[in-house]
Amino acid sequence: MKPHISLIMAVSLDGKISTRDGAGPRFASEADGIRLREIRSLADAILVGAGTIIADDPTFTERGKYKDLRLERGLAPNPIKAVVSGSGSVPETARMFKPNGAPALVFTTAHIPANRLEALEQVAEIHRVGATTVNFHRVVEILGEIYQVKHLLIEGGGQVNFDLFRAGLIDEIYLTLCPKIIGGRDVLTSVEGAGFDFLDIVGVELVEHRLVDSEIFLRYRVHRN
Ligand SMILES: NC(=O)c1ccc[n+]([C@@H]2O[C@H](COP(=O)([O-])OP(=O)(O)OC[C@H]3O[C@@H](n4cnc5c(N)ncnc54)[C@H](OP(=O)(O)O)[C@@H]3O)[C@@H](O)[C@H]2O)c1
Repeated sequence: MKPHISLIMAVSLDGKISTRDGAGPRFASEADGIRLREIRSLADAILVGAGTIIADDPTFTERGKYKDLRLERGLAPNPIKAVVSGSGSVPETARMFKPNGAPALVFTTAHIPANRLEALEQVAEIHRVGATTVNFHRVVEILGEIYQVKHLLIEGGGQVNFDLFRAGLIDEIYLTLCPKIIGGRDVLTSVEGAGFDFLDIVGVELVEHRLVDSEIFLRYRVHRN
């Protein structure tokens, strides 16, 4: 069965997900960090793009209360960690590959250079799912069938988010609207890629909202075309 797929992002008022100097989601509040951990504690697996690993180097290792929450829910202490990296640019030294009891996966293509494949094979389970680009339908199938993932959390970045929307795979969005203006023509937004034509725009429906100081926590259900 297809896993339920949630996407989580923090955006500035002008839709940016990082800053001109590449500070990533650090513009979001402490309350947003808490919300991220709570939502992670529902997920069997987390998937990101190589760009996010290179920029932010997350560990995806849970501690204390959030680890306990996972165990109470019958989940593994840490989520499965997965990265999409068609060219194998994700560094094998990234913190997501440090052993923490959870499998680390790389979804790549037949195009990956032999030296990158060899390096990544030392630290992760590799799945080649596409000739030159990663086929996200296969990624989701593998996560569901081989790794028994029922709830998958997508944590960006902009390129991976677009690919998943284009593939029609996202079920819900957790968005934090942060009271900040970042600007910058070249600063990334939450959905990058080639973008959608008018007739292909993805529609969403607001199902939850909460205001904490000037930050708004939103949850949307994604419409299926
Ligand atoms: N504000 C937030 O909540 C938040 C959350 C997460 C990330 N971020 C920010 O987002 C930025 C990163 O976003 P991004 O758009 O640059 O990168 P990204 O989406 O994280 O990763 C892009 C990379 O993923 C691989 N990839 C994606 N789709 C692919 C496909 N169909 N086939 C093959 N490979 C594919 C490619 O890796 P290869 O180059 O290896 O082929 C590509 O270069 C960072 O600045 C990060 O801080 C912000």
